[in-house]
Amino acid sequence: MKFFIDTANLEQIKEAQALGVLDGVTTNPSLMAKEGITGEKNILQHYVDICNNVTGDVSAEVIATDYDSIIKEGEALAKLHAQIVVKVPMIKDGIKAIRYFYDKGIKTNCTLVFSAGQALLAAKAGATYVSPFIGRLEDISSDGLNLIDEIRLIYDNYNFNTQILAASVRHTMHVLDCAKIGADVMTGPLSAIVGLLKHPLTDSGLAKFLEDHKKGN
Ligand code: E4P
Repeated sequence: MKFFIDTANLEQIKEAQALGVLDGVTTNPSLMAKEGITGEKNILQHYVDICNNVTGDVSAEVIATDYDSIIKEGEALAKLHAQIVVKVPMIKDGIKAIRYFYDKGIKTNCTLVFSAGQALLAAKAGATYVSPFIGRLEDISSDGLNLIDEIRLIYDNYNFNTQILAASVRHTMHVLDCAKIGADVMTGPLSAIVGLLKHPLTDSGLAKFLEDHKKGN
C-alpha cells in the first residue's frame, strides 16, 4: 500500500519524506489556501517545490471546470515537473479530460468521488488514480469504507489499472481499514502516518529494556 501525505505544508512533507515511508503527495485548492499560497505564480512554484522534496507522484488540482480550460490548465501543470499528476474533478467535462490526458500519457487523479458508479466511470476513462473521500462520507453518516470495498470489487472484476487512492483519511484506523480492504494508496495527514508508530506497550517495553541494560552495566 502506498502512503501519500495530504497537505501543501512543505515542512510536514519533508518530515514524512525523511521517515522513509512516503510515496507521494496530494494537494487541493483548500490545502494550498490553508498554507497561504495564493496567486498563480506562487501556486505553480509551490508545486515544483513539493516535487523537488519528494520522490513520488504529486497531485495538482485544476481549478477549471469546462473541458477546454481543464485541458489547458492540466497540460500546463503536467509540464511543471515529471512527478505532477493532474487532479481532475468528477464531472462530465472532467471525465472527457481524463480520457484526453490518458491518450496523451498524462497521469490523472479523479477527485471528489463519492459513489462506486463514479469510480467505474473514472476507470473507464483511464484515470491513473481514483479518489473516494472516506472522511467526508462519514461526516454525513455514510459508510466510506464500504465504498472502498465496492470499488475494489469492481476494479478486480475487470482488472482495471486505475489505482484506488483512499482520500479524506482522517486517522490511523482509516489507514488500517483501507489496508485490510486493499486500497492501493491512502492519502492522509502526517498525524495518521506517524500515529501508526504508537503503542503504549512499545514505550513501556523500551523503557524497561533500557533500565535493565543500565542495571547490568
Ligand atoms: C483528496 O485528495 C483530498 O485532498 C483530501 O483527502 C480531502 O480530505 P478532507 O476531507 O479531510 O478535506
